[in-house]
Amino acid sequence: MPERIAMGGYTLIEDAPLAARNTLRVTARAALLAEVHDAAALPELFAYPAVRTGDILVLGEGSNVLFTGDYAGTVIAMATRGVEVLDDDGTRALIRVAAGERWDDFVRWSLGRGCAGLENLILIPGTVGAAPLQNIGAYGVEVGEFIDAVEAWDRESQRAVTLDRDACGFTYRDSIFKRAPDRWLITAVVFALPREHALRLDYAGVREELAAMGVTQPAPFHVAEAVLRLRTRKLPDPAVIGNAGSFFKNPVVPLAQTEALKREHPALPIWPGPQGHAKLSAAWLIEACGFKGLREGDAGISNRHALVLVNHGGARGAELWALAQRVQAGVRARFGVELEPEPRIL
Ligand code: FAD
Ligand code: EPU
Repeated sequence: MPERIAMGGYTLIEDAPLAARNTLRVTARAALLAEVHDAAALPELFAYPAVRTGDILVLGEGSNVLFTGDYAGTVIAMATRGVEVLDDDGTRALIRVAAGERWDDFVRWSLGRGCAGLENLILIPGTVGAAPLQNIGAYGVEVGEFIDAVEAWDRESQRAVTLDRDACGFTYRDSIFKRAPDRWLITAVVFALPREHALRLDYAGVREELAAMGVTQPAPFHVAEAVLRLRTRKLPDPAVIGNAGSFFKNPVVPLAQTEALKREHPALPIWPGPQGHAKLSAAWLIEACGFKGLREGDAGISNRHALVLVNHGGARGAELWALAQRVQAGVRARFGVELEPEPRIL
């Protein structure tokens, strides 16, 4: 039985099991796990020499990590709670949410309060603290747009800092937090949510789903319901089969390469990208290589969505990673495109 030591604001657990703390349901252990219930306790936690100088991994719900083995350092699990309305002038609300709150709970709470903005981001697993890390996005919306500021413990300067939206460097599935892993422990996020805004209905399937629901004048909660239905149909549920959502990012490639690929493969879905680039559908590339539904032991590629790596039960992290690398090699050989994993590989 792992030893548990409860301190003010955090609990320390030695040799802690991680299988229930990652949605790929991979078996792994952490040499030390600190579950943080009060962000004010972080300075005291970092006063421990092993935590201050050793390797640390900040963990939320584990819905975007792959453990390929045990973790020899300290896992810091953010379990802080609290939602606070800082300001609401009737047109826009500023809301501060603790890092350990569940993202989907907050989305539903915000819609229930009459705030708009997050409706397209319903049903994304994970914590609020992890949302800025990869600037979570779905159905044509990225969270960065609705973030006013991010509060964090900066391990480099050893103090609490607040970064405004511009300082966060949000781009597709990226931010300064993702580029410098574990430098900033995000302790809270301040959202700026409008009461009304132009709904985003252009992502494939959203208008069709609203029409099927019989909705002609959609409100934010209708859009949330449409996205919820689409996601439930398309993506495997981690409660049923272990997965981490999209295992690869959609590759962003130069326009010249995009045009060549499009000439050869007219069906390849392509979206606009940053200056001189376009974004390709990784799922399409993977399916075209014949990997959809593939299974090697208990490691597999979902038969519902080609971008989702699944654990059929007892797959080890190293087996899942080996399969992911096989997919990368297949797409590289066939299309000359490099697929970058979206989850953090540990
Ligand atoms: P974790 O997996 O615990 O951690 C992810 C990364 O964030 C790690 O690098 C970790 O160190 C870091 N981190 C976590 N918390 C903090 C913190 N407080 N401070 C600093 N760093 C931290 N993502 C999308 O963008 N769009 C989707 O549509 C989407 N759909 C998904 C569907 C399914 C079924 C699944 C399983 C995942 C999906 N994801 C999606 C990925 C995932 O839900 C998000 O990346 C989510 O934000 C991860 O939250 P988490 O708390 O589980 O983070
Ligand atoms: N497609 C296939 N085969 C499949 C699935 C999809 O060819 O098995 C093609 C289809 O042409 C489809 C296109 O891919 O039209 C796009 O599919 P989807 O709408 O499911 O989106 P995605 O690009 O595969 C991205 C995000 C998801 C997010 C959805 C909806 C990335 C890496 N993934 O997936 O995010 O929910 O869009 O916006 O950007 C995640 O990050 O974990 C995640 C699930």
